[in-house]
Amino acid sequence: MTIIDKTADVPAPRGSTENSGPLLDVRDLHVEFKTRDGVVKAVNGVNYSVSAGETLAVLGESGSGKSVTAQAIMGILDMPPGRIPQGEILFRGEDMLTMGYEERRKIRGQKIAMIFQDALSSLNPVLTVGYQLAEMFRVHQGLSKKDAKAKAIDLMDRVRIPAAKERVNDYPHQFSGGMRQRIMIAMALALEPDLIIADEPTTALDVTVQAQVMDLLAELQREYNMGLILITHDLGVVADVADKIAVMYAGRIVETAPVHELYKRPAHPYTRGLLDSIPRLDQKGQELYAIKGLPPNLLKIPTGCAFNPRCPKAQDICRTDVPPLLSVTERDGGELPGRHSACHFWKEQIHG
Ligand SMILES: Nc1ncnc2c1ncn2[C@@H]1O[C@H](COP(=O)(O)OP(=O)(O)O)[C@@H](O)[C@H]1O
Ligand code: SF4
Ligand SMILES: [Mg+2]
Repeated sequence: MTIIDKTADVPAPRGSTENSGPLLDVRDLHVEFKTRDGVVKAVNGVNYSVSAGETLAVLGESGSGKSVTAQAIMGILDMPPGRIPQGEILFRGEDMLTMGYEERRKIRGQKIAMIFQDALSSLNPVLTVGYQLAEMFRVHQGLSKKDAKAKAIDLMDRVRIPAAKERVNDYPHQFSGGMRQRIMIAMALALEPDLIIADEPTTALDVTVQAQVMDLLAELQREYNMGLILITHDLGVVADVADKIAVMYAGRIVETAPVHELYKRPAHPYTRGLLDSIPRLDQKGQELYAIKGLPPNLLKIPTGCAFNPRCPKAQDICRTDVPPLLSVTERDGGELPGRHSACHFWKEQIHG
């Protein structure tokens, strides 16, 4: 079954030329894991794309398949138990799932970089950060020890680590969480990739530091004109930096929209629920809304719309028919570029 109507194209992103296609185009991606209890259907037909100079935020509660999708793109899925039964991952128009090993390795090592939530476990504790940064330049660009170190310092400057010249000789544990995440950003930037995938890059940090790291990431993304995929469970942290959002639920994209439109007029009850769950300053003291229930067990995804057991708008059809991801339009049929919803009742949701 086709679950996306691609008639309405995503808007031309900032910084891209008109005929350059997306940098990364994930099409109908499926990922499953064979476990003792059965097959976990972690990703069930994901479609999203990102262009140079564009930031896509992928949003969804824990367990919705955001990280597994990213792991499939990076080629770091546990296979087995993982398997990709269907789908394409196009990088500049070429499917990474079918290209040769060498070609794929080059893209994943140099063109796409990833930033993880937990810098401490991604960095080597017994090597100085300078050494780890310099190593990238030595291995990939064949620089001398001295030149590689100079570049490492320069990069630490760029991600605004104070006193980079001295701190280049420090070990990961000597940095604060926020500074460590800056080092991770520096590592990701080292080879000037076309695309960065940041998986919950600020989740482990406190709120003020979160905003600083997010702003830095956004600034560097613009400066380098990179594509950026920002994975998060927190709608609050991506509002100012993303161009567009893809909302995930139970391994599927349930809504896509340019970021400000999504906030103004969500076209899916799940997105509405996420928006209503964000704490707001003007509502201090009031009880915060929470979407009832829990995300589904991916061993046994509900029939019909996977969100139906939790949805305040569910009707009979929601329990039997999977809602396809369709283009969302204005009341008079006018186009809303980049907008899609997988809800049988998206019209009621967006137009009230
Ligand atoms: N190696 C694995 N084996 C079995 N199940 C896995 C494995 N990795 C991830 N999953 C399952 O895939 C689902 C999606 O996980 P994930 O992509 O990490 O969610 P998110 O990043 O959205 O929080 C989860 O139910 C998770 O338990
Ligand atoms: S399809 Fe039905 S259950 Fe699913 S989000 Fe829409 S109204 Fe709710
Ligand atoms: Mg995750």
